[in-house]
Amino acid sequence: MDQDPFDQLQVTTHGMANGGEAVARAADGRVVFVEGALPDERVTVAITAEKKRFLRAKAVEILDASPSRVDPPCPHVADGCGGCGLQYATPEAQRQLRLGMVRDALQRLGRIPDPLVELGPELPTDGYRTAMRAAVQGGRAGFRVAQSHDVVVVGSCLVSHPLVEEILVDGRFGAAHEVSIRVGVGTGERMVVVRPNAAEVTVRADVLVVGADQLAQKRAWIHEEVAGRRWRVGADSFFQTRPDGAEALVVEVGRAAGDPTGLRAIDAYGGVGLMSTALLGAERITLVERSASAVADARVNLADLPVKAIRVAVERWHPSNADLVVADPSRAGLGKAGVDVLASTGASRFVLVSCDAGALGRDAGLLVEAGYRLERSVLVDLFPHTPRVEVVSTFTR
Ligand SMILES: C[S@@+](CC[C@H](N)C(=O)[O-])C[C@H]1O[C@@H](n2cnc3c(N)ncnc32)[C@H](O)[C@@H]1O
Repeated sequence: MDQDPFDQLQVTTHGMANGGEAVARAADGRVVFVEGALPDERVTVAITAEKKRFLRAKAVEILDASPSRVDPPCPHVADGCGGCGLQYATPEAQRQLRLGMVRDALQRLGRIPDPLVELGPELPTDGYRTAMRAAVQGGRAGFRVAQSHDVVVVGSCLVSHPLVEEILVDGRFGAAHEVSIRVGVGTGERMVVVRPNAAEVTVRADVLVVGADQLAQKRAWIHEEVAGRRWRVGADSFFQTRPDGAEALVVEVGRAAGDPTGLRAIDAYGGVGLMSTALLGAERITLVERSASAVADARVNLADLPVKAIRVAVERWHPSNADLVVADPSRAGLGKAGVDVLASTGASRFVLVSCDAGALGRDAGLLVEAGYRLERSVLVDLFPHTPRVEVVSTFTR
């Protein structure tokens, strides 16, 4: 590895980090995280940040390319759009890279020596996202350049569902700085939440437009259909970003949960209630969720089922005894407080749904400390073209 006067280096990558950057080692022993490179490539990189223990860099020339490398199918990658970080690998190579990130996190952060990590169902790689948050610049929507505040205004989006893409590309959003678009594929309903307000927004007439400033007084929602049920999803509620993926998750969580007949089950971080439908047959289901909007939706969505929805943060909940826990936290994961509360239900089976590999690794380590054993993890690959993972893990004790 040689350093030239323009802070460019030549490195050989040997792995991939959680965020989708390839990993190399500099001559002084520091790790180099390389944006735009794949494992096993020889690349010239430009240093973008230098820290005591690691460097960040961008690939500027691929000297020796991985056989998995392809030209990114979306033209906006060349413009710097940071929405999809793995488009320069084949879809199959991407799946293997995401699988590797999960295995690595379980080994390194969870200290589980040989975890069983499997690939879940293969979902379409393009046109899948039914929810998007986009930046707005000059009234038009786009995505931020990685590690920057610059916005790339887009004329198309490879991963957006066509019902989303039309709003993203054709919408005009006045002086807004951010929009959240959500559509229901099963119902055709569409909504856009505009921040800070919805002044001078132009979208097709069918789209429900709400200013973020109105949400304190006004409830707004759309409906989606997943797993044979109709779901109300409020503007402030979480819902999975693709209905086929939501369906796949319910199937995988159901498999991991085993037969819930007669069991006392917890649906922690329950959102609008999706995972409770993987627990049907349980004697009772307690859904624990912090968001008022999501709990209101869950009570409507699950009104015909034996589910009690409680509005409280998991860390503050006084746990009831249970046989089975399903926990689907946000990207930060369960953390020690979440693990302590949920483990104290006494549940012998714990299904963890993780949307961040690092959080999965840390939570798995904490669950092992609490007496659980990891049986298996399944990558339900919801986010093609990106380094994001979604993983269903089964723990027992
Ligand atoms: C990844 S979503 C999962 C929602 C639901 N399980 C689903 O599949 O649609 C995480 C949910 O946890 C909620 N949440 C975040 N932190 C929480 C906490 N500390 N206690 C309870 N709920 C929390 C969020 O509001 C969100 O609804």
